[in-house]
Amino acid sequence: MEYTILNNGVKMPMEGFGVFQVPDPDVCEQAVLDAISVGYRLIDTAASYGNEEAVGAAIKKSGACREDLFITTKLWVSDSSYDGAKRAFETSLKKLGLEYLDLYLIHQPMGDYIGAYRAMEELYKEGLVRAIGVCNCYPHVLADICETVEVTPAVNQVELHPFFQQPEALALMKEYEVQPEAWGPFAEGKHGIFTNPILTEIGAKYGKSAAQVVLRWNVQRGVVVIPKSIHRKRMEQNFNIWDFSLTDEEMNQIASFDIGHSEIVNHFDPNFVRALHGRFAK
Ligand SMILES: NC(=O)c1ccc[n+]([C@@H]2O[C@H](COP(=O)([O-])OP(=O)(O)OC[C@H]3O[C@@H](n4cnc5c(N)ncnc54)[C@H](OP(=O)(O)O)[C@@H]3O)[C@@H](O)[C@H]2O)c1
Repeated sequence: MEYTILNNGVKMPMEGFGVFQVPDPDVCEQAVLDAISVGYRLIDTAASYGNEEAVGAAIKKSGACREDLFITTKLWVSDSSYDGAKRAFETSLKKLGLEYLDLYLIHQPMGDYIGAYRAMEELYKEGLVRAIGVCNCYPHVLADICETVEVTPAVNQVELHPFFQQPEALALMKEYEVQPEAWGPFAEGKHGIFTNPILTEIGAKYGKSAAQVVLRWNVQRGVVVIPKSIHRKRMEQNFNIWDFSLTDEEMNQIASFDIGHSEIVNHFDPNFVRALHGRFAK
């Protein structure tokens, strides 16, 4: 396993474990326990996933050393304001049973997210969170945030996989020293990614699966990955990507897969924006 150093000097694992769409508390707790025993140290949850308590229970049960773990959670749209962020942070910390967070992210740049970010800057300065950042910020939004705030986001978690590669966004993140983190590194299983003939053929050379090739491709271009699986065997497979490298030719072959847009979400659709404002309403 490799690590990246964030723009504030904090060490972050290049691979973590995501728990989106694992609403059942028992399933989530077991999955996080399995992930930690497999070797994952970064756990990525969110207030909106409804499973922070289960993640917290697993962390406690695992007996893992807190300093070795890297726990991320996210602020939902309904709390997107200065006061909302202060309240939501406290709630998340309590649910997770933690005294501090490693990374707190704005889940969607919607509502009064600059107000929310100001609150997060204060939490960061108080030492309650080791790094703060954002998600789903396309280049123009990220540039605006970086030019507005005092503490440059350490991370921008965005959709990044072979079918949506976002090269311009990565270039901008490099310019601002914002670490890219891939959500949906498997495109949530779309595009036949696990059985793609080219990925399978590349993997066969190294005794690896298409899934392992996809993760390796992203980490090799400097992107942190947080694959999700509730199956231990797949967690093991997904974590076993640190003993091979793709050639430049293979990296370029995969670069040609890009269709240049998401087929999972459309942040530019007003109906999607309205749904995010309401879907997880409390
Ligand atoms: N910031 C955001 O807005 C945002 C949005 C989406 C996701 N995320 C974060 O990113 C994480 C990852 O993204 P994601 O969960 O959406 O999707 P993903 O990791 O791209 O794909 C997960 C899917 O792949 C399957 N899978 C995993 N490993 C596999 C393997 N080796 N072979 C075959 N199938 C495999 C899983 O099934 P099984 O579980 O049945 O194995 C699941 O259906 C999330 O869990 C969450 O933490 C953040």
